[in-house]
Amino acid sequence: MLTKNRIKSVQHESNVCADIEGFDFNSYSSDDIAIVRQLWLQHGVIRFRDANISDAQQVDFSRHFGEFVIHPKQLQEGGHPTHPEILVISNAMKGGKPSGAMGNSEATWHTDTWFYERPPAGAILRAVQVPASGGDTYFLSTYRAYDTLPGHLRESVTGRQIFFQNVYDKTGKLRLGKAEPKSEDFREWQGIVHPLVRTHGETGRKALYLGGTSEGAWIVGMPLDESDDLLAQLWKHTTGTHEVFVQKWDAGDIMMWDNRCTMHRRDSFDPNSIRIMHRTTTAGERPV
Ligand code: OGA
Ligand code: MN
Repeated sequence: MLTKNRIKSVQHESNVCADIEGFDFNSYSSDDIAIVRQLWLQHGVIRFRDANISDAQQVDFSRHFGEFVIHPKQLQEGGHPTHPEILVISNAMKGGKPSGAMGNSEATWHTDTWFYERPPAGAILRAVQVPASGGDTYFLSTYRAYDTLPGHLRESVTGRQIFFQNVYDKTGKLRLGKAEPKSEDFREWQGIVHPLVRTHGETGRKALYLGGTSEGAWIVGMPLDESDDLLAQLWKHTTGTHEVFVQKWDAGDIMMWDNRCTMHRRDSFDPNSIRIMHRTTTAGERPV
């Protein structure tokens, strides 16, 4: 296939990320996009080092990978002034208010918006400004997590569903539009049920789906203490791996992940430094 770009991919040892080299964001064909898409599906995470594109270029590029997920307007933090498709992740303050989402604290292992009925399929995250150190982002494969489950755990997850409460976020704050629940038992709160093992709609591969926290999660139908115990084992198995890719950002870098088969986390960083990231997000299907 003749493409204008000379696209090369270099896989990292961690097995969950490949660098794409030779992609020209100023001029690319649908064949080039098809190659990127194929590499994204194959590796789970791809990186473009030093891409240095504009917001408009990021939006145009992202458009090729599906419908956009537009961040709710009410969440002022993270709204972009001119590109609604862009979520701003930033700890910079503007007029006494945060100009973006996530602040400077650690973000523990998660898959994006697991508590939605249709979590996003993909995210494209571009570094606009980064601190000299800290704020690294880590990625792992949930295909790997599933494929390497020991037999007894594989048996315990087969055919199971997982409930995630979606009233409170991980820091204990009420989510947008939610009211304090009446019940003490989170299993009676509003939430969402997903398969604990999901099958990727495009690759057909199975991936373990743990969402973003074991707190407020329940393996449907299982006594709560057993569910807690199994979830603790699954989290340990998944996040205890050495097969993690660590992205140490330079401004201009882009990470693009498949949110259906990967998890990520972020280190905290010095609150006196500024970290600004622009993210576009593509819609996904209901996990099956
Ligand atoms: C995200 C996220 C990590 C980072 O955009 O979903 O978790 O490094 N970001 O900012
Ligand atoms: Mn995230």
